[in-house]
Amino acid sequence: MTANHVDTSVSFDPLAIRPDFPILAQEIHRQKPLIYLDNAASSQHPLAVLKAMDHCYETTYANVHRGTHWLSEEASGLYESARLSVQNFIGAAADCEVIFTAGTTAGINAVARSWGDAHVQNGDEILLTLMEHHSNIVPWQQLAERTGAKVRWVAITEDGQLDQDDFAAKLNERTKMVGLTAVSNTLGTINPVKHLVELAHAAGALVMVDAAQHVPHATIDVVDWDADFATFSGHKMLGPTGIGVLYGKRELLEKMPPFLGGGSMIKQVTTQGFTWGDLPARFEAGTPPIVEAIGVAAAIEYLKPIGLDRIAAHETHLAAVAQAELDKIDGLHVLGPDPQLKCGIVSFVVEGVSAQDISVLLDLQGVAVRAGHHCTMPLHDHLGISASCRASFYLYNTEEEARHFADSLATILPKLR
Ligand code: ALA
Repeated sequence: MTANHVDTSVSFDPLAIRPDFPILAQEIHRQKPLIYLDNAASSQHPLAVLKAMDHCYETTYANVHRGTHWLSEEASGLYESARLSVQNFIGAAADCEVIFTAGTTAGINAVARSWGDAHVQNGDEILLTLMEHHSNIVPWQQLAERTGAKVRWVAITEDGQLDQDDFAAKLNERTKMVGLTAVSNTLGTINPVKHLVELAHAAGALVMVDAAQHVPHATIDVVDWDADFATFSGHKMLGPTGIGVLYGKRELLEKMPPFLGGGSMIKQVTTQGFTWGDLPARFEAGTPPIVEAIGVAAAIEYLKPIGLDRIAAHETHLAAVAQAELDKIDGLHVLGPDPQLKCGIVSFVVEGVSAQDISVLLDLQGVAVRAGHHCTMPLHDHLGISASCRASFYLYNTEEEARHFADSLATILPKLR
């Protein structure tokens, strides 16, 4: 996946890896094969990830960076080597720039609190795009409430792309932070992060990149992006829940006050106060998600040899196959750009039919999709709809499943009209 389009010329056979995901071999609702198309909400886990986590619990589990005993040192070694895997995976310059959090939401909240409270004042502006997930909206709205700063919005074009002219026009010397999703979880739009970061920096603003929908599907290089902060979750990239990564440029993290207080994040605590610990511990108060970090490292090891570019190409192909079939259905509108300009997400609405009803009937056909606002209410408001249905593909989905989804939809819609 380059700036904003996917090279579909590289091929990939999902059947080769399908046995790694036993959950997908199930039949539900009277022998209907389970077709899991809710990957943008959460992905499934290959055996390699489950085994790595089990192995840790069976042989190497203890709290990290606390004990001087063998087990704690072994666990600490695995935890820190997971950090190195992530550093290498995202292209960060130093391992101390990789902070393990509870997830994408926790990462953005940490920056809004730590960096935001220290740097944003009454009259400053925070620029968000209309396609942000609530997790890259609400923490900034809360910061605006605390400080008197103003939240401004970048428009999107008719075909669901970011309006880059509006983005440039709304940047000014008052803009302190830009909240930018790399890939829209609803439209599938791939934003040209590097270019937008350049524009933001030229105006003197920092950028928080929500990479939750990018990292599982495409190569990421935070240095090439020149992102100030970027964050993503383990559970959307074949890893466990309860863990995410916050990347921050070292020079920014070094000056930021810690957000959560407690064990690990201090150098010294006295009855009079405390001093900050070093990076990355300063932002990892309390017992961290130890086994989850090992699970994320195992997910990275699983994804790497397959190749993220091939995964992106495969998913875009599946989305194109599904979208071509959906386009034949009267009254159905697919949201967002053309398939070659987006990742493997197909969100749609059908005139006169509720998204919820569609997802319930699809489920009875064995097809799992998401219905609702997908935590993008401002985007849905802008589109003049209250809900949509979303099919989201991942590496283990097949073309047959994409076609089955479209056929099932065509079969159930007459019953709902
Ligand atoms: N953020 C997740 C989604 O888009 C939950 O569905």
